[in-house]
Amino acid sequence: MRGSARSRSSVKTALTSRSSSASDQPNSRGYHHVENRPFARLAGGDGPGCLRQENLAGKYNVQEPAVSDPSIKPTAPTTPVITDDEHLFETFGGREGLTALMDDAMVRWLKNPKTRPFFENADQAKIKALLVEQFCVIMHGPCQYSGRTMAEAHRGMNVKEANFYGLVEELQVAMNKRHIPFRAQNRLIAALAPMHRDIIDK
Ligand code: HEM
Repeated sequence: MRGSARSRSSVKTALTSRSSSASDQPNSRGYHHVENRPFARLAGGDGPGCLRQENLAGKYNVQEPAVSDPSIKPTAPTTPVITDDEHLFETFGGREGLTALMDDAMVRWLKNPKTRPFFENADQAKIKALLVEQFCVIMHGPCQYSGRTMAEAHRGMNVKEANFYGLVEELQVAMNKRHIPFRAQNRLIAALAPMHRDIIDK
């Protein structure tokens, strides 16, 4: 464990600590779909807690980008929206803050052996810009996400669980460095967690 980074197990805890009573309804805390779906349960991808693509359009406040390849069927929303915290986007420093956060996170992803092989030959500037858009939308900020779905963007990359945790860990280190309060960090991480179904290759 480096510097102020939380351990791998604490990342897992952040991703799994929610109660297991799944509901498809937006809840009192404003999560339109990520609340009450622990990471492990999501990994199963089925059952009452599982979000299906056909549920997304009307039921949740989700802006799904078009999928150009009909063989790709996303199972998790690419841009869920947290609607009950109107200050979340500002807590992250707005677009400027998110841009700085992504700059920092990308430097870390390029250093971490779990993530470096994926990013070293990729268009890093484009990925960062799309992540800023995506996170801005998730935080109910004034942005549009112009990228692909997570299923489409990560298809065939052979991302494993360890790579996913590596990415989230470095994101958390970057958020800590920017003094983003834990509560705000956890809200973002909880929104990102369901995406693992579309990103990880089992
Ligand atoms: C919650 C976790 C993740 C989120 C929110 C996320 C988000 C994104 C976004 C928004 C894009 C741009 C989409 C586009 O090009 O249209 C992208 C692309 C990419 N992501 Fe992720 N990602 C996640 C996890 C990962 C992981 C774990 C890896 C590998 C360790 C990874 C590697 C990449 C790479 C290499 C690209 C570029 C793909 C290309 O240019 O074709 N991502 N991701």
